[in-house]
Amino acid sequence: MGNLPASEWLNTLLALLQACQLGLLSLLHKTGLVGDSHGQPAWPWAHRVSGENLLIDLGQARQLAVSLGLLALAAVLLLAASLLLWRRHRRSAGGTALVAAAALLFAPWPQASVVLVSAYPTSFHRSPTGFSALSVEQGGRLYAQQCVACHGADGRGQGPLAEAQPVWPPDLAGPLLWRRADGDVFWRIREGLRDRHGRQTMAGFADRLSDADTWAVMDYLRAQAAGQSLRRAGRWERPVAVPDFEVRCTGRPARAVSDWRQRHQRLRIVADGGGAVPLEDPRLTTVLVRAAPAASDEGVDCVADAPGAWQALALVAGAAPQALAGTQLIADRDGWLRARGEPGKGAWSDDDLLCRTETAKPSDRPASADGLGALIARMDAEPVRFVKGGFVH
Ligand code: HEC
Repeated sequence: MGNLPASEWLNTLLALLQACQLGLLSLLHKTGLVGDSHGQPAWPWAHRVSGENLLIDLGQARQLAVSLGLLALAAVLLLAASLLLWRRHRRSAGGTALVAAAALLFAPWPQASVVLVSAYPTSFHRSPTGFSALSVEQGGRLYAQQCVACHGADGRGQGPLAEAQPVWPPDLAGPLLWRRADGDVFWRIREGLRDRHGRQTMAGFADRLSDADTWAVMDYLRAQAAGQSLRRAGRWERPVAVPDFEVRCTGRPARAVSDWRQRHQRLRIVADGGGAVPLEDPRLTTVLVRAAPAASDEGVDCVADAPGAWQALALVAGAAPQALAGTQLIADRDGWLRARGEPGKGAWSDDDLLCRTETAKPSDRPASADGLGALIARMDAEPVRFVKGGFVH
């Protein structure tokens, strides 16, 4: 595709496909042709375009892009042909229509089995929870009751009942859940899973979990996967947001963490360790998070002691709640957690950047006098993208 790097044209193609599907769904819903499923518009077909497959199969993605281009060309040519016909230029109209037909005939149509995957009524659903700390906490409780026996305490599929299952439970802390659209995971948790022969491999939880419970469990899985990725690979291999909770800053009404994301402002979260709070810094807002409310918040500008916040942060930071004190986390302007400073650390360095893209060459990186400045410059220059179910969100 010309000089564009593979990811650019592919992202454009995937974004276009996703927008078409969502637009179509919204249109059908507005005109009353499709109803609701679990509170959101229901996808009416048994298939959808698979961003997850196209992302992996570049060849097929390229064929699809070329075919769609030719399809658009054919549409324009047919329009031109009908205009010509209307003006009684029969011959030219016939010729134009022939070229249109040839464009369609010779288009390198990709394989349907790659482009299309099974879909459910909830395939395009979005989580309504906003990835809140409370939802992560609620999800954690449900996970411990309903899922841990098979999926294991760390989500990697080593629970005591794992061996007795018809297939081994997958690693829920690995890349699997990122290949799936949220709405598909929601459906599968509720309705269960079957193998190719129709044999049930996991029973559904529709009778034990409400819709809200199901979304909460998924928030927990996401937070757990982030922490596991830090423990296993020393990196957040996929972007994770700061779980949302309430923050109180002196002299201002309480705000949610997600407010900073909406305003494109950076955030530094400091888990209260009893020691000195880092100095205020004009480049980011510093929020002191406490496990429980303190007698006085004097001398601290922004504080959070909302229930669940400490536990959710510990989970995404890959630390036990009792070991979180003193940890610092930095979120970029898009709200993604990018850097972690472990308790007692001195200055920030490049090694603390734990969620990265390698877009810029090291020599092109902006220079900065201090460690934090360099980190911030790099976060800004190399934003990360969140890809879920093959589509950028
Ligand atoms: C009795 C054992 C068992 C329990 C309990 C269980 N699972 Fe599973 N789970 C499995 C097995 C086995 C698979 C693999 C099924 C397959 O691939 O066909 C699986 C697969 C999954 C998947 C992957 C779906 C996919 O798209 O491939 C998710 C997500 C999941 N489970 C979530 C949960 C959640 C959430 C709970 C608790 C509410 C739960 N499971 C409870 C056994 C269990």
